[in-house]
Amino acid sequence: MCGITGYLGTLPAVSTAINNLKRLEYRGYDSAGVAFISPQGLRVCRAEGRIVNLESAIKNEQAQSSVAIAHTRWATHGVPCEANSHPHRDCAGNVAVVHNGIIENYAQLRQELTARGHSFSSDTDTETLAHLIEEQLANATQPDLVTAVRDALKLVHGSYAVAVLWAGMPDCMVVARHDSPLIIGVGDSEMLIASDITAVMKYTRDVIVLEDGDCALVTREGATICNLNGDRVNRNHLSVDWDDTAAEKGGHAHFMLKEIYEGPRTVRETLRGRLTPEGLVNLNDLGLSAERIAAINRVCLIGCGTAYHAGVVARRFFEQLIRQPVEVHVASEYRYSDPILDENTLVVLISQSGETADTMAALRLARSYNAITLGVVNVIGSSLAREADARLITQAGPEIGVASTKAYLAQLTALTLLGLYLAEQRAPETASLQSEVRRALSSLPEWLEQCVALAPQMDALSAVVAESSGVFFLGRGYDYATALEAALKLKEISYLHAEAYPAGEMKHGPLALVEPGVTVVGLCTQRTTFDKMLSNLKEVSARSGAVVALIPNGQQVPENAEVTIELPKCPDALMPMLTIVPLQLLAYYVALRRGCPIDQPRNLAKSVTVE
Ligand code: AGP
Ligand code: GLU
Repeated sequence: MCGITGYLGTLPAVSTAINNLKRLEYRGYDSAGVAFISPQGLRVCRAEGRIVNLESAIKNEQAQSSVAIAHTRWATHGVPCEANSHPHRDCAGNVAVVHNGIIENYAQLRQELTARGHSFSSDTDTETLAHLIEEQLANATQPDLVTAVRDALKLVHGSYAVAVLWAGMPDCMVVARHDSPLIIGVGDSEMLIASDITAVMKYTRDVIVLEDGDCALVTREGATICNLNGDRVNRNHLSVDWDDTAAEKGGHAHFMLKEIYEGPRTVRETLRGRLTPEGLVNLNDLGLSAERIAAINRVCLIGCGTAYHAGVVARRFFEQLIRQPVEVHVASEYRYSDPILDENTLVVLISQSGETADTMAALRLARSYNAITLGVVNVIGSSLAREADARLITQAGPEIGVASTKAYLAQLTALTLLGLYLAEQRAPETASLQSEVRRALSSLPEWLEQCVALAPQMDALSAVVAESSGVFFLGRGYDYATALEAALKLKEISYLHAEAYPAGEMKHGPLALVEPGVTVVGLCTQRTTFDKMLSNLKEVSARSGAVVALIPNGQQVPENAEVTIELPKCPDALMPMLTIVPLQLLAYYVALRRGCPIDQPRNLAKSVTVE
């Protein structure tokens, strides 16, 4: 949920760590801080708000150092303010800690530490770590930072990615992780740490992804990794092939717009290498044997937010293809449910970041029932990618905008491939639908280009929607699933209240909300329900609601629609991928008109790694 960076080497460490932190500001941005070791000892500088405030604060410091750690916060314990910003120090001011996650037993630890004479200067859970490490160092006959951090973390329950500096060992950083991501960038006589790979790509492509329970001493010579018992651990190096500009805006005003325009290429990348010359699906690297696939007797799709909405689309698609019961659940509900699972249940966890706390908890619950777990995930080396039995990497490249766009298309594409893959092996009776969908896959990028070209029309439409008192997105079947995602997009970046509803349900109550000023967007892409949708939209017009219709090319234009958006025609099952693009654009342009900070909407963060 927050961003951590660190630098050790010949460059100015403080400015390097802070510049890299900017790449992570989308992960959380209510305050920021940096710690460094100078000839005068351990120094800390912190500021409430964005990283730019920290840069102003640090200007007045003589921040010459070869080692620094920095943090941008998304508060969980303690309101956003300077005192609760990271880094946190011990009583003597010789230890500095930055942390991502939650120390669940912090209250008891704080009480015990206070009873032993420690004084706290913040309301955060994190500060307990600094005092625990201080105690370990004080009690050691030959204090060393790695041992002190390891022994302190043994006392902690909860999730953490931490980086620690100590004035007693000025030429190193110690890092550790459990349930929150942390990577090490291996440079040429310089070392970097970060919450995710994009923050170090400018310096090195040689990356070590720490695993849960790892604790590493990082010196100029490299990283020595061990577990909390001090046993050495070997971690493979990952060679990152993302181009650096992939994490830049590519000339667009915002990451979100860039990522919408990347949609067609993203789908091409997700499909890459996964269709045989005969057009069949090739997911042999999934990690699921034919026997296990044959034994599957139910499928559960699980995710949060946009990832959950991808699951709502996929549930319908899977049931049409494999003709077996398929469930879809919100991870935060599922993790506390009493699920019916066994070793023949396939549990598919959908997550862009692969670090979402609720989704990871659902994974671990499913594994405790010996269910088959499969992660549909974008971030290589993420917790989900490593802990699931099998994984399908969506290959969307880094998604920086908090509002998920291209990753959603990648998730739908990956889930389509997965549904086809399962059906090819288990459901010969749906062979004709399978081949209809398979044939269409290769045309998806071109159709998506046509959808992205609707941007001017969506910009024009946004002028009306931005003035609405409220917005409904109505649909049936696949269109209702898309309506859920369209409503989330509009809400989360324009702060305009929007709601998705099954179109047939409006007359059972919500129609009472329709009045002049309310906009109703009707998604009418499904052949079997097109006429029903026209009737539902007429009910809206009769109550002076403004109607916008999305229809496939060639369909009858609803005469009561004030605006009709025409989409490329493709199989019903693939229409959700096309329909969402103009609605992502609509959300973007409405937010622009409403002066919202599009890439970093208020109260939100890119990856929700806490409950
Ligand atoms: C989507 O626009 C939101 N940012 C949010 O709902 C997101 O989809 C959700 O937090 C799940 O994230 P994940 O895919 O990384 O697990
Ligand atoms: N729980 C810590 C705090 O509230 C860390 C939050 C974060 O991950 O940014 O300060």
